[in-house]
Amino acid sequence: VVKKLYLIGMGPGDPKYLTLEAVNLMKKLKLFFIPGKKGKKFELTRIRKDILSFVKGNDDYQVVEVLFPERRKSLNYEETVQEWRNQKAKILKEELQRHEEDEAGFLIWGDPSIYDGHIAIIKEVVKETGLEFEVIPGISAFQVLSAHHKEPFTDIGESLLFTTPRFIRKNKKIDLNTVVFLDNYESYNLLIDEDLEMFWGAYLGLKEEVLISGKLSEVRKKVTEIRRKLRKEKGWIMEVYFLKKVKR
Ligand SMILES: C[S@@+](CC[C@H](N)C(=O)[O-])C[C@H]1O[C@@H](n2cnc3c(N)ncnc32)[C@H](O)[C@@H]1O
Repeated sequence: VVKKLYLIGMGPGDPKYLTLEAVNLMKKLKLFFIPGKKGKKFELTRIRKDILSFVKGNDDYQVVEVLFPERRKSLNYEETVQEWRNQKAKILKEELQRHEEDEAGFLIWGDPSIYDGHIAIIKEVVKETGLEFEVIPGISAFQVLSAHHKEPFTDIGESLLFTTPRFIRKNKKIDLNTVVFLDNYESYNLLIDEDLEMFWGAYLGLKEEVLISGKLSEVRKKVTEIRRKLRKEKGWIMEVYFLKKVKR
């Protein structure tokens, strides 16, 4: 039975973004969990496996693909997310009991702190089982976004908002520098503010990386065209962008 689980931030997809702490830990562990993905998204599983084999080489280790159910689509978003997390906690609990190793790692895309439910899920498991866990920070996609655009999120004394398309759809304007994750809805098209600059990135840190930047009103058409094309070609897209007021 696994008694201790490490949630390991693995960076946005390339082994070069692993921290030394993550590498040292992964070298030590023999059992790893990764979320299983089907269809075209299987590439996301392959990326995780490649990261493991980069660190482990020919070592003896086991990778378990945990198949979580899809989230039920419903109007009550928070309720369905909670229900989804409970299902995942149950699956993970059973999975942890199935193995002989005392310790295992769970690879988390980017950093576990942001738009990732695994810390919350593990806390549910901890309540029921007394499992011990540790979180190992990783490089998040938003850090690579800033680095590759060579653009800081905060100029002197400014604040930063992390959000998702729901917030944009609801407010249709932003007052702070804002990083938007998970925007499958092209919500930036709803923003009327003409004085925004957009820094958009897809597949950050991977060989397919695409960057676009400029005044929102001038680049949004191009972003929309390119994201649709890439998404169709590859079957999945990972994109994140940053909006900032144009300085006069
Ligand atoms: C479930 S969230 C996880 C974020 C992750 N915890 C992190 O720190 O990057 C997945 C979203 O992160 C962003 N993302 C993750 N990896 C990315 C990458 N390599 N390039 C662009 N966006 C990425 C996208 O907005 C994607 O929809």
